[in-house]
Amino acid sequence: MGKMRMKLPSRIVLLAWFLIFALASLTGQQKWVIGMSQCNLGEPWRVQMNADIRKAAAENPMLTVIFKDAQNDTLKQRAHVEEFVNARVNLLIISPKEAAPLTAPVADAFRKGIPVVVLDRRVLGNEYTCFIGADNKRIGQAAGRWIAAKLGDRGQVVELKGLMTSTPGQDRHSGFVEGIRGTGIEVIFEADMKWLEPNARKEMESALAVHKKIDLVYAHNDPGAHGAYLAAKAVGRDKEMLFVGIDALPQEGQMYVRQGIVAASFEYPTGGREAVDSAVRILGGKRVPKEVTLPSRVFTSENIDKGGEWLDIKAAGK
Ligand code: FRU
Repeated sequence: MGKMRMKLPSRIVLLAWFLIFALASLTGQQKWVIGMSQCNLGEPWRVQMNADIRKAAAENPMLTVIFKDAQNDTLKQRAHVEEFVNARVNLLIISPKEAAPLTAPVADAFRKGIPVVVLDRRVLGNEYTCFIGADNKRIGQAAGRWIAAKLGDRGQVVELKGLMTSTPGQDRHSGFVEGIRGTGIEVIFEADMKWLEPNARKEMESALAVHKKIDLVYAHNDPGAHGAYLAAKAVGRDKEMLFVGIDALPQEGQMYVRQGIVAASFEYPTGGREAVDSAVRILGGKRVPKEVTLPSRVFTSENIDKGGEWLDIKAAGK
């Protein structure tokens, strides 16, 4: 008898829980809402990042992603993060324009209990759940070594940098400096083109006006390399020099390599799918590593048909 009495309420409790979950999933209450703060959608690479996130999230019926585009405006991106916090999203993914100004809003979200996945560009400190991105220092270093080998350890190089208040710009520069150390490669002109093709083109016009001999342009991204190429082509000097870029999207950098516009493009994976994978683990109560480093390949005319060459065999898991 006693046993029976114990069993009945526990069955009722179980049934009640089942009904609550069934109802919740019917009304959609069980969905996780992810806020995605994108710093801008001006470059194909960022459009690709959002598409990768959208595609990965669509495979999981539990997820809804709300995208906000800050249109390359730091203040706007700060406001977007605050809006996501006020709306109590379940998790925030952010690809911040600049490190320092986005640090406080990200830390604030994190302190309020909203898990934060920082993607591609870093913030300062460690008040976020995890960072996902390729190793920009290593990419810069590999670019430096590749360029030195290609030019036979000497030559005059123009460096068109990404936004130097963003971490990939800083790391692609310092890595490159390490990569060419001890060689006769000389950087004769450097400018911050802030990741933007029109800026790169303008800066390159100045470089061309001042320097009669340029062997190679190292641009921190493929839009930059393409802008430099257009400037050189406009004055009939594109065949005098080589162009190297970073990103290697199939429809951008890899295409430039196939067209012979760019000599090498270093892959910078968007990390969109990995961000969604980490988000799902975090939302499911699992632990994730604080840092996820994505592998990278280099594409040149020699290896492009074989799918490029991995920079770090171990990191690529090959
Ligand atoms: C796009 C972009 C990419 C670059 C990345 C660095 O905005 O400039 O070309 O690889 O951002 O964060």
